[in-house]
Amino acid sequence: APIEVKKICCIGAGYVGGPTCAVIALKCPHIQVTIVDLNQARIDAWNSDNLPIYEPGLDEVVKAARGKNLFFSTNVDKAIAEADLIFVSVNTPTKKSGIGAGFAADLNYLQLATRRIAEVSTSSKIVVEKSTVPCRTAESMRTILEANSKPGCTFDILSNPEFLAEGTAIADLFNPDRVLIGSLQTQSGKDACEALKNVYSNWISTDRILTVGLWSSELSKLAANAMLAQRISSINALSAICEATGASVDEVAHAVGRDSRVGPKFLKASVGFGGSCFQKDILNLVYLSESLHLPEVAKYWRAVVEMNEHQKDRFARKVVDTLFNTITGKKIALLGWAFKKDTGDTRESPSISIANHFLSEKARISIYDPQVTESQMWLDLTNYGDIPAEPIKPHVTICKSAEEACKNAEAIVICTEWDEFKTLDWEKIYANCPRPAFVFDGRLMLDRAALKKIGFTVITIGTGD
Ligand code: NAD
Ligand code: UGA
Repeated sequence: APIEVKKICCIGAGYVGGPTCAVIALKCPHIQVTIVDLNQARIDAWNSDNLPIYEPGLDEVVKAARGKNLFFSTNVDKAIAEADLIFVSVNTPTKKSGIGAGFAADLNYLQLATRRIAEVSTSSKIVVEKSTVPCRTAESMRTILEANSKPGCTFDILSNPEFLAEGTAIADLFNPDRVLIGSLQTQSGKDACEALKNVYSNWISTDRILTVGLWSSELSKLAANAMLAQRISSINALSAICEATGASVDEVAHAVGRDSRVGPKFLKASVGFGGSCFQKDILNLVYLSESLHLPEVAKYWRAVVEMNEHQKDRFARKVVDTLFNTITGKKIALLGWAFKKDTGDTRESPSISIANHFLSEKARISIYDPQVTESQMWLDLTNYGDIPAEPIKPHVTICKSAEEACKNAEAIVICTEWDEFKTLDWEKIYANCPRPAFVFDGRLMLDRAALKKIGFTVITIGTGD
C-alpha cells in the first residue's frame, strides 16, 4: 500500500525546486517541506524578504508557508534523513568538457545528490527525479542508491518532470495542464507513484495527473521542450520568408494557428528563444539520438537549435545593415536583458548574443532591464569571467531606465517583451534621438503605426515593409 507522505525534502533551491516545493507546502499544510541547497547565499535569500528569484506571486506563497511547514536550509543531510519523499531538483547543465561536451547533460550534480541520499538515509525513501534528465537516468540513480544503501533501506525512484515556465511559474504550478509521474510497473513502484499522486491531488484534479512508465516520463520532458522550441524555430524560419516577401508573420501565425490542430500558442516570432532549458534539452536529445545510432533523428532536432542561432544572428545583422553597414562608435540602446518578460533570469538570453555581436562591431551599447541586476549583466557580458571586462567597459553603459538607455541612441533594439516598453513616452524618446531614429522590435510588441507617426523608422521581425 502507498505510504502517507509526511515530510518532503527538496534538494536544489533553484528556479524549479524553490517555487515547486513552496507551492506543495502551501497546498499541503499537513506536509512538512524542507528545501535544501549547498549554496548558503541562496538559502539565506530564500529566508529573507529578498527572494533569490523574481517570479510573480512567489513572495506571497513563500510568506504564507515559510516557518510554518516550509523551511529553507543548508543542512542537506538532516533534511534527507527525516524525509519520506525526496525531490532531486538540482541543475543538469550541458557538459562543458569530456565525452559529449557541448551536447550531453552533466549529471554530476544529480549523482552527488543521489550518493548523499544513499549515504545518510537510515529509512526507506521515495526518490523523485525532478530535474530534466536523459532517458534512463533513473536506472543509474537506482544503481547508485542500491550499491550504497544501509541494510533495510529501500528506494523507489519516480520521474516527475516539471513543466512550469518562468514568469508564470506560480500560475503554472497552481493550475498545471498536467502532472506527469513515471514509475516502474512493479507493486512498490506503483505504490510510490500513488503516494506522490496523493500529494498533488491536494489541489490538482486526478484526471490531470498522468501516470506512465519511467522511461516514457523521462523522454516526455525532453520531447515536450523539443516540440515547443521547434514551433518557435518554425515560426522564426517563416519570419525570414515574411521579411523577404512582404508577408507579415503575425498574420501568418494567426491564420495558421486558427487551425485547431495547430493551435494559437507559442507561435510568436522573436529574436530567438533563450532560457536555461530549450537549447540544453534539445542538445541532450541530439546526443541521445546519436548514442542510439540514429544520426538522421539527431540531425532533425539539431536543426531547431541551428535555426535559433541563425535567428539571433540575422536580427543583429539586420541592425548593422540598416544603420548603413556600420555601427562602429554608434550608441545602441538594448531594451531587455532577461530571456523573456517577468523573470530576472538571463540564462541563454538572446540579448547576450546580440550585445556580443554589437560589441564585436565596436558599437557603444546602453542596456536597460527592469529585473536584471548590473552585476548579473557583467557576468553575462564576460561569460562569467572568461572574457576580460576592462576592454569592453568603455563600450557598455548599464542604465536605470529605458529613457536613459535610449537617450541619444542611433538605434533602439527591443530584445525582451517587458510590458513597460509599450507605454514608454516614445515622443520624448524620439525628441532625444539623432535622425533618422530607428526602433528594432525583436518581439513584435510595439504599436508600429504610432511609432511611425512620431517619426521613427520601425523595423520589426517578420514584416517586409
Ligand atoms: P538552478 O541552477 O536554478 O538550481 C539548482 C540548484 O541545485 C542550485 O541552487 C544548486 O546550488 C543546487 N545543487 C546542485 N547540486 C546540489 C547538491 N548536490 N546538493 C544540494 N544542492 C545542490 O536550476 P533550475 O533552473 O532550478 O533547474 C533545475 C532542473 O530543473 C534542471 O534539470 C532543469 O533542466 C529543470 N527544469 C528547469 C526549469 C526552469 O524553468 N528553470 C523548468 C523545468 C525543468
Ligand atoms: C520552457 C517551457 O515552456 C516549460 O514548459 C518548461 O518547463 C521549461 O522550458 C523548462 O523545461 O525549463 P521557459 O524556458 O521558462 O519554459 O519559458 P518559455 O515561455 O517557454 O520561453 C522560452 C523562450 O522562448 C523565451 O526566450 C521566449 O521569449 C521564447 N518564445 C516563447 C518565443 O520566442 N516565441 C513564443 O511563441 C514563445
